[in-house]
Amino acid sequence: MSKYIILQNKKFKFDKNFIFKYFYNQFFKYNLNPTLETRKKNIYIETYGCQMNLADSEVVKSITKLNGFDFTSNMKDADIILVNTCSVRDNAEQRIIGRLGDFKHLKQSNPNLVVGVMGCMAERLRNDLTDTNINSLNKIIDIVVGPDEYRKLPELIENAFVGEKGVAVRLSRVENYDDIIPYREDGIAAFISVMRGCDKFCTFCVVPFTRGRERSRTVQSVVKEVEELAKRNFREVTLLGQNVNSFSDGENDFSDLLQSVANVDKKMRVRFTTSHPQDMSDKLISTIAKNENICNFIHLPVQSGSDRILELMNRTYDSKHYFNLIKKIKNEIPTAVLSTDIIIGFPTETEDDYKSTVELMQEVQYDGAFMFNYSPRENTKAYLMEDDVPFEIKTRRLNEINEMQRAISLLKNQKDIGKVEEVLVEDESKKSENFLRGRTDGNKMVIFPKEDGIKIGDYIQIKIERVNSATLFGEKIK
Ligand code: SAH
Ligand code: SF4
Ligand code: F3S
Repeated sequence: MSKYIILQNKKFKFDKNFIFKYFYNQFFKYNLNPTLETRKKNIYIETYGCQMNLADSEVVKSITKLNGFDFTSNMKDADIILVNTCSVRDNAEQRIIGRLGDFKHLKQSNPNLVVGVMGCMAERLRNDLTDTNINSLNKIIDIVVGPDEYRKLPELIENAFVGEKGVAVRLSRVENYDDIIPYREDGIAAFISVMRGCDKFCTFCVVPFTRGRERSRTVQSVVKEVEELAKRNFREVTLLGQNVNSFSDGENDFSDLLQSVANVDKKMRVRFTTSHPQDMSDKLISTIAKNENICNFIHLPVQSGSDRILELMNRTYDSKHYFNLIKKIKNEIPTAVLSTDIIIGFPTETEDDYKSTVELMQEVQYDGAFMFNYSPRENTKAYLMEDDVPFEIKTRRLNEINEMQRAISLLKNQKDIGKVEEVLVEDESKKSENFLRGRTDGNKMVIFPKEDGIKIGDYIQIKIERVNSATLFGEKIK
């Protein structure tokens, strides 16, 4: 049994680690052990992966702030570093493992530093991160916490300060952090998670394993959050879920949620992502069409144009269903801006399968697309299939569709030249302080000259003058 000691009204585990830390503090006053002093401890959070992770980091900030922690944007000032991670493809994980290695020297110069891994990789790799010796990560990582256990973080951090490593990775069927108001700096755009998890089990995808079963918040709690944001002068909300259109709180579906959110403030733009083609109902399309402030931007991942591959992926639709959806969307929302995700080189993908994807992309004429090489993920069904498309072929196909999409995006953007677009002013341009940036209703980035009287959060009318495949450039109409 462990022995404990009470110091300054706090309970510490009395072991070798504690004795070391105690004497270390006595000798090096400049670097006091955070558990032995009263100042607030600073947390530095780094977030990888999808927007749901960005939203979760805000939930974590809220939970830790309520428990007396503070934040820093400089990791050198941090008492605790938390890395919110993504497992979707192997290269996402490798990048994060590399990043964790960077913390080694920080830990050497400050042995009291606590490092926590949270999110999807924490869930997937669990004990591996603290137990085994992959890149000596076990020496760096003190806490491993999965997406449904963030309420435990304050306790896990306190334990880590006294040398106790912690792993909390239980997935929940009910946790949706509905009662927690995420901690947000003032701004104009906010992400709001409206549901968690995924029940679709596409055969390539790790998300159902890292995020668990699907569960939704209530319309009331989401609306309340949007009302608060409106009071703080936020101008845009993006409703998030892995398949946001399968939202259901028992009484309301996603169209109902979208309508209620759009009613809060007609000056608040409403976006949402990601939609699954199976759950894109007629009601949802008409809700988007009839509300001015629901943006006409729809991200509708197709993954492949080959019915055989779609079946193997367990996407639960075929290309005919997808084309029909696109037709309906274009009919009802003529200004719709469409984007997609594509996986190249799924097991058994032939040249003909690939050509079907190319043809689908040419037919739909997406405004943008995210394209990835297939990455085998342990535990998924596709993992049992041989990853048999050679790397060179995947790469060639990926380069080809990247090129093709760039040309399509450019052509579509060129059609905007001469048009007047309503732009929500977001910030200074990243490239020049003489310019501002904002987005159109269709989510296209617009760059325009700074002028007296234009403020961040304003809606202004910009005439588009020139474009490239990623950005529009214009000037405010007088
Ligand atoms: N829920 C969303 C997508 C979530 S993951 C949907 O169903 O559309 C984001 C994208 O990553 C996916 O759309 C897919 O294109 C890609 N992706 C997921 N798993 C992958 C894997 N194993 N290899 C390559 N790309 C993958
Ligand atoms: Fe993954 Fe499919 Fe769920 Fe999207 S719908 S998160 S791709 S399992
Ligand atoms: Fe990545 Fe998890 Fe999002 S695997 S894409 S961070 S849900």
